[in-house]
Amino acid sequence: MPKLHSLRLRFMIAILLWTALGITSIWYSSTRLFEMHVERQYHEELDVHIKELDRLTKLKANGQPFLSRPLSDPRFAVPNAGFYWQITRQGYEPIKSASMTKGGIDDSIANSPQVSHGHQVGPTGKAITYGLIRPTADGDSVRFVIATDQRLLDAITNEFEAELKLWLAILALLLLASGGAIILFGLRPLDRLRKASETLRRGEADVIEGNYPSEIAPLVGNLNAYISSNRELIVKARVQAGNLAHALRTPLAVMTDEAERMAEQENGSAAATFLEQCRLMTQQIEYQLARARSVAGKGKAIQASDFSATAMTVISAMERLHPDKSFRLENSLPSSLRLAIDPVDLSEIMGCLLDNAGKWANRCVVCRAEVAEGRAIIEIADDGLGLQEENLETAFEIGSRFDAVKTGSGLGLAIARDIARGVGGEITLIANPSEEGGLIARLYLPAIICLGS
Ligand SMILES: Nc1ncnc2c1ncn2[C@@H]1O[C@H](COP(=O)(O)OP(=O)(O)O)[C@@H](O)[C@H]1O
Ligand SMILES: [Mg+2]
Repeated sequence: MPKLHSLRLRFMIAILLWTALGITSIWYSSTRLFEMHVERQYHEELDVHIKELDRLTKLKANGQPFLSRPLSDPRFAVPNAGFYWQITRQGYEPIKSASMTKGGIDDSIANSPQVSHGHQVGPTGKAITYGLIRPTADGDSVRFVIATDQRLLDAITNEFEAELKLWLAILALLLLASGGAIILFGLRPLDRLRKASETLRRGEADVIEGNYPSEIAPLVGNLNAYISSNRELIVKARVQAGNLAHALRTPLAVMTDEAERMAEQENGSAAATFLEQCRLMTQQIEYQLARARSVAGKGKAIQASDFSATAMTVISAMERLHPDKSFRLENSLPSSLRLAIDPVDLSEIMGCLLDNAGKWANRCVVCRAEVAEGRAIIEIADDGLGLQEENLETAFEIGSRFDAVKTGSGLGLAIARDIARGVGGEITLIANPSEEGGLIARLYLPAIICLGS
């Protein structure tokens, strides 16, 4: 059996089963009860009629039975109405009710002075028959039989069943509707919780907000406590890493200085190693400081940025930094769209990618942005020399550089990718397939918020 992962589905199935069970048992017990009731009434009536027939029958002087006056129930006079009586005496003319225009009733049911009853085929179909014998003074007997068509009884129960069907259908609908309403109403806090957690995820709120019923409130409280302690922990760790890097910076600068002097004076290989190690340490420290700058002190998990505003600010800075290169922005993101990243982090990434493109471009840099499958794809393409296929991935390592001429730390791409991955995004480098060649840095950013649409 497949697992039921939806609470709504579970409740709905339970309500359906309950309703089906309830309606079926009401149907069964009501029809049974009604049938019993109608049948009992019929039998009582027939019992009265046969006794009345017995009472009203007299014998003429020649022994021929006759009715002193008609039976009280007028239905015995209506032809083929389904109500019949019959009086027989061996050797005499049988007398029958006016309703019996054809056929007759088998009088074998009249077999004792006590009323006995059974079923047989009457003048107009299946009938319930009642019979009784009255002995005469001369040792003979008169037989009384009364029959009522079964169809009359069936018609009453059929009519009742048709009406009951309608009412039970209405009842079932009402039960299902009220069950649905209860599910909807009862599970509303869970919907609110889902929305609140989405808001939290998008960085529009710091905690799960709202009042919740007592069954869910403790869960929300615990989650909120966990979120805030976690956030504090991350901030503290980042600040500590930043502080450590900062504290090491000055002694390291002094050591680097000293190593350079040693290298100049003694020209020894020990000094060169010393210098190289100092350079590696400096890289690590600068990297940690940059990361601390980007994450520390942030209250919210993720914020939303407007791509075009950030891109324009960074591009105008890059135009001053690389005055001999032209920068072009082709933004096809809808204006209602926001990127799920802090604006400072977005400028850090854009700054790194555009600076690289500006540094290595021949003449121009193009920045394109578009949406695809719910995430933004931002491409920064230049017409420079590009990178060897095997360096496209290594370029992201801390300190990796493939150009001895241009200045740099080799940290830019490492930091940019780190930030992008931190918000669920990614950066890749690919060779520019266009004629000018060069490199394309492709940045993916997820969790796009569409405002007002
Ligand atoms: N657009 C580009 N064209 C050619 N090479 C690039 C480009 N972007 C990055 N690179 C190569 O990747 C290396 C690492 O880049 P990065 O991490 O930004 O460090 P930095 O810019 O400080 O050198 C660069 O030194 C360079 O060799
Ligand atoms: Mg760089």
